[in-house]
Amino acid sequence: MRNDFEKAMHFRHATKIFDTSKPMSEEDLTFILEAGRMSPSSFGMEHWQFFVIRDTAMREAIKAVAWNQPQITTASELIAIGYKKRVRSSDPYIQSEFNKFGYPDYLRDMYAQWIDPRSNETLESWSACQVYIAAANMMSAAASIGIDSCPIEGFDRIATEKIMGIDTLDFGIPLLIPFGYRLKEQQPRLRSELSELVTYL
Ligand SMILES: Cc1cc2nc3c(=O)[nH]c(=O)nc-3n(C[C@H](O)[C@H](O)[C@H](O)COP(=O)(O)O)c2cc1C
Repeated sequence: MRNDFEKAMHFRHATKIFDTSKPMSEEDLTFILEAGRMSPSSFGMEHWQFFVIRDTAMREAIKAVAWNQPQITTASELIAIGYKKRVRSSDPYIQSEFNKFGYPDYLRDMYAQWIDPRSNETLESWSACQVYIAAANMMSAAASIGIDSCPIEGFDRIATEKIMGIDTLDFGIPLLIPFGYRLKEQQPRLRSELSELVTYL
């Protein structure tokens, strides 16, 4: 198991171009989405919404506002990871999550005291942080079954949200992740040594 995980970590790399002749199966897509769904989130609020973009014209339009990165149109599946914006304690979604989990009053109060006073900007960045955890799990899950991916932040967010036609009062899109099979061999992956990265206190 440890070896399997290690192998997946080394297999995963930021894939720059995908093989358009190799589609992923629905089953594999569901496996990846499940990894997102089962991810941890602050207070368990599942801040994510996964938009699977299959419309070819929509993908072309997004590519045009994403530095023309070929991953956007060559990937078998393109997932835009959305974060929820309406996450104050009084928002209906948060109320429904509280009820789903049967949160006691003290936890609801704690949430209200900790989250509600935040500015919209701080609140959004907190919500966006949660979806990056799901994103990482999805890419690792994909790698564990031999599927490639590339996290993409290099796109015009406002233009992309408009192209997708989402309600930007509800969702923001910080990250796109194309999934599929690599066309080319991966480049060597350069990393700092653990001794440089870890501080024991
Ligand atoms: C949040 C985030 C945004 C990224 N945006 C892009 C991007 O727009 N285009 C791209 O080709 N790679 C993008 N990358 C990939 C990184 O450049 C890549 O992960 C890094 O260079 C390490 O390479 P590796 O993932 O192959 O090990 C992004 C990575 C992250 C985590």
